[in-house]
Amino acid sequence: MSIQLQIHPSAFPQSQREHWFESLKRQVVPAQCLYESIGQASRWLAYAKAWSPIHRGKDYQGVYDRAYAAAWGCMDRRAFDYLALGCGDGYKDASFFNHQAARALNGYLGLAEISPSLLIEASQKLASFQPEAWVVDLASAPEAFFRPSNPDNPRRLISCMGMLPTLGYQVLLPYLSRQMGPEDWLLVSANLTPSKDPESCQAILTQYDNDLAMEWYRGFLLELGLPRDSFACQASTHAMEPVTDGGFRIQIKARLKQDHCLSFYGHRLEWLAHTTLDLFRSERHTTQGLRQLFHQHGLACHESFQSEDGEEAVYLLKRASA
Ligand SMILES: C[S@@+](CC[C@H](N)C(=O)[O-])C[C@H]1O[C@@H](n2cnc3c(N)ncnc32)[C@H](O)[C@@H]1O
Repeated sequence: MSIQLQIHPSAFPQSQREHWFESLKRQVVPAQCLYESIGQASRWLAYAKAWSPIHRGKDYQGVYDRAYAAAWGCMDRRAFDYLALGCGDGYKDASFFNHQAARALNGYLGLAEISPSLLIEASQKLASFQPEAWVVDLASAPEAFFRPSNPDNPRRLISCMGMLPTLGYQVLLPYLSRQMGPEDWLLVSANLTPSKDPESCQAILTQYDNDLAMEWYRGFLLELGLPRDSFACQASTHAMEPVTDGGFRIQIKARLKQDHCLSFYGHRLEWLAHTTLDLFRSERHTTQGLRQLFHQHGLACHESFQSEDGEEAVYLLKRASA
């Protein structure tokens, strides 16, 4: 069976190339670079299946199950559109729809993702809903591109899983806040930091500093043409205070051991030895800090669901009333 993908202008090769080049010149690897190619998507999936919370045990799966049950409850057995932003391989969206026999209630299913190969996997998992699948760069804050199934009743559940750590709150929350209509509901997952003590931060860091994760980050630089032994990756944590009260950012930096001159779609990219590339970032928030951020962005928390270890949470949000 063939699959139809819509390509949003933000994901056209010319826009992506310009964006990549401008960012790589500043030694920052844009988040989407780590997912976009078939190779990177496969390396990310291998890492996520071993390390991402939903695959790591019943307690984490339970967080999502409870959040999904609550979201179905809010939908009140009336038709709604379901939009998955940054859907990855669609594993979580498929488990949302497996959750209840009420699946026929859905009006329209929209999927948005930067990686075509992940989007194809998601479309295959959700084929029975005939999803509209968009390759789109959400970091460029595209305005409405999904077509509502019923313009007179535009009730939507927007699911945005794993995107807060990936794009960061400064990019994602203003965007989500603009997307939310008065009838819409929003599911957002977050990685949390249960404690400020350095041992707990160090334990969290091992989730990002392991062989599968390093293979995934490195993969992008290898695809760019850097020899494997010409750089070394290192993981570290950096406080996000005072903005987010106790939250921190995990960073993977790649230190170059030699000069590199790369030809990049007709542009020249020059990186000198000892340059440090900002290869990967992921945010961890405290519950309190995150609630403040939601509030600042006009999002009201209706319910939240947290793992026993306090490291993973899903929030069910609405637009705050004026
Ligand atoms: C951590 S994964 C989460 C995937 C899925 N939602 C899940 O929870 O398993 C982040 C996803 O965001 C996508 N992504 C990263 N940057 C993006 C961008 N700028 N626009 C659209 N999708 C993006 C990646 O391709 C990846 O599928």
